[in-house]
Amino acid sequence: MINAPRGTNDFYGDPMEVLLELEQTIIELCRDYGYGQVRTPMFEQIELFKRGVGENTDIVAKEMYTFLDKSKQLKEYALKPEGTAGVVRAYLERRMDANSGPTKLYYITPAFRYEKPEAGRYRQFHQFGVELFGVKGPMADVEVISLGYELLKRLGIINVKLYINSLGSQAARIQYNQELTNYLHIHQSNLCPTCQERIDKNPLRVLDCKEDSCQPVIAKAPLLLDYLTDEDRQHFEQVQTMLTELAIEYTVDPKIVRGLDYYSRTVFEFISEQDDFKKTVCGGGRYDRLIEELGGRPTPAIGFGAGMERLLLMIEQSRGGFNNPTEVDLFVGYIGPTAKIEALKTVTEYRRQGIRAATDLLEKSLKNQMKFADKIKARYSFIIGEEELKTGKVAIKQMATGQEETIDLTGVAEYMKNKPKQ
Ligand code: HAM
Repeated sequence: MINAPRGTNDFYGDPMEVLLELEQTIIELCRDYGYGQVRTPMFEQIELFKRGVGENTDIVAKEMYTFLDKSKQLKEYALKPEGTAGVVRAYLERRMDANSGPTKLYYITPAFRYEKPEAGRYRQFHQFGVELFGVKGPMADVEVISLGYELLKRLGIINVKLYINSLGSQAARIQYNQELTNYLHIHQSNLCPTCQERIDKNPLRVLDCKEDSCQPVIAKAPLLLDYLTDEDRQHFEQVQTMLTELAIEYTVDPKIVRGLDYYSRTVFEFISEQDDFKKTVCGGGRYDRLIEELGGRPTPAIGFGAGMERLLLMIEQSRGGFNNPTEVDLFVGYIGPTAKIEALKTVTEYRRQGIRAATDLLEKSLKNQMKFADKIKARYSFIIGEEELKTGKVAIKQMATGQEETIDLTGVAEYMKNKPKQ
């Protein structure tokens, strides 16, 4: 037998139903916030991610799935490891920047990273992301954060905390990078080999390292927050004031630096606080220089990405399991060949009218048909036999209570429409 590639999932059954429910919640939420959906290709030229995400990030340097296609030009491509770079490319290529107002986009997309698989970390996963282009002020930061917060609320996810930080503007970062590099060189021998390499290439990444050996050095490292310009500081303070106004609780964590290079000023993460699952469910921030870097006019932007498998895990934990939320409204059983055709005709008609109806396709005995009706959690059922065909009346049964009512077969659809779904 051929197995699925390591770190990938097949969705079916109850988790698939909850994934669809999650997607539906996202679609409605984004409509409420005025974000339009965008779909970009599953692969892009590798150059986009090198310039967009950063050549020295783990994502680009170690985790991308890259390939050459069959064209003679031997261009290198990569499966998208995240959603932002492709959306920025599309924003520029499709001249969405010609809009005068802000451009607000969202996406639901598979993403690919060659990582070590574990619970909540996969090689193919799904990202829900939003990107807001064209707003410099802190209201945009707060709108995007509140969208993430509202999603968790609508999904009934508990035990998640919001952490925010500011990475400052370029001016602040240049000065800070110098100080940090000096500090890390002094403590170089106490860092893991990967961090030793990072010192000159990308010192900020060291703060993100999870190796135990690096933690004492990280704990005493200078903080970027101390190097912010007055403008950066004001921006960050306003973000905090507005979050408080919206009653969104947050903690400032100066160690949140994010794993991608494009951020400036506000960054944030919603982190699961569950004992057995401490992971970032949703992370993002401002990236005011990326659009210029990819050939556009200077355009401020902010967004986030949320791992949908992680959201599913949290929904499962918050609800105490996946219970299939869909059930069948009505099961139609039958006895004999004429009734079988009648059952097929009636369920087809009910489905046309938006009633979830089922009958037995395996032509089982009546007893087994009713067992099947229980298994698929039918709320109501009736049986068509010789008598029902003759009189045109059926006994419709509420499965949970066993209560029956005799009604005209022609009135069943109307009857069901008046039965609210519990
Ligand atoms: P990121 O933090 O790399 O940011 O990923 C966003 C989210 O994707 C993570 O918080 C996590 O929930 C999920 N995720 C990442 N890797 C995996 C994995 N291997 N398995 C399962 N879930 C995963 C970004 O990708 C940015 N593009 C976010 C952004 C949008 N920033 C601005 N706009």
